Amino acid sequence: MNIAVKTENLSKLYGQTMAVDRLSLEVKNGEFFGFLGPNGAGKTTTIRLLTGIIRPDEGTAIIQENLPAGSIEAKLIAGVMPESRGLYEWMTAREYLSLFAHLYSVHNAIKATDEKLSIVGLSHEKNKRIGAFSRGMKQRLCLARALINKPKILFLDEPTLGLDPKGQEDIQILLKALNADGVTIFYSSHLLNEVAMLCSRIAVIHHGKLVAQGTISQLQEQTGLTNSGLKDIFLKLTGD
Ligand SMILES: Nc1ncnc2c1ncn2[C@@H]1O[C@H](COP(=O)(O)OP(=O)(O)OP(=O)(O)O)[C@@H](O)[C@H]1O
Ligand SMILES: [Mg+2]
Repeated sequence: MNIAVKTENLSKLYGQTMAVDRLSLEVKNGEFFGFLGPNGAGKTTTIRLLTGIIRPDEGTAIIQENLPAGSIEAKLIAGVMPESRGLYEWMTAREYLSLFAHLYSVHNAIKATDEKLSIVGLSHEKNKRIGAFSRGMKQRLCLARALINKPKILFLDEPTLGLDPKGQEDIQILLKALNADGVTIFYSSHLLNEVAMLCSRIAVIHHGKLVAQGTISQLQEQTGLTNSGLKDIFLKLTGD
């Protein structure tokens, strides 16, 4: 199996706004795929379409070769860290995560819960109410939730937003390790240094449309900015 994500003419209309406009993308298994675009470009909407939170108006999206995005089969093998967290603030982190472990019928759910809390650095906070968590702690818990079902593919919508430098580095190291273990990563971020460091291939969208995709050197070639960094390339591709 080689295809992790494939969309064809994927489209979503909100009122008069084409939030995602005939987007055709392909991500291969094992890739660390960067998904970039300015505010309002349609990144979150695309991730919501790919994870079945919303349905497209037109076009198709499949996950892992042949599973329709949004199907239960696709959801079982995917992890998602969405833009809005939707945490249950009255629960402790451990209660919350074990709820998801049970939902996914994870073997040895409590052990898996404690393992994931440890991986994201929340072992000491596991019995604290989520409502009393800082933003970075909530972000870490969201990542633990995204990992609880041992996903083959991870969809991450600005996962390091609001994290302190140590937290950002911890997550970068964790994601690299997951990717080295074969997990495909679909990664949206505005931190272009982070994207340049982590991602093997990048797509840039603007006004819902794909404007470029490829490795950084392919993007350099496409834009004629052969000696430039990702920031200059991004600004050229998304300048109106
Ligand atoms: N629920 C909604 N109802 C109406 N319009 C929406 C909704 N969600 C998104 N939009 C619109 O769709 C477009 C794409 O928004 P989206 O949130 O996907 O952008 P984004 O690339 O994730 O931006 P950001 O970098 O700010 O997170 C924007 O014009 C936005 O106003
Ligand atoms: Mg967004």
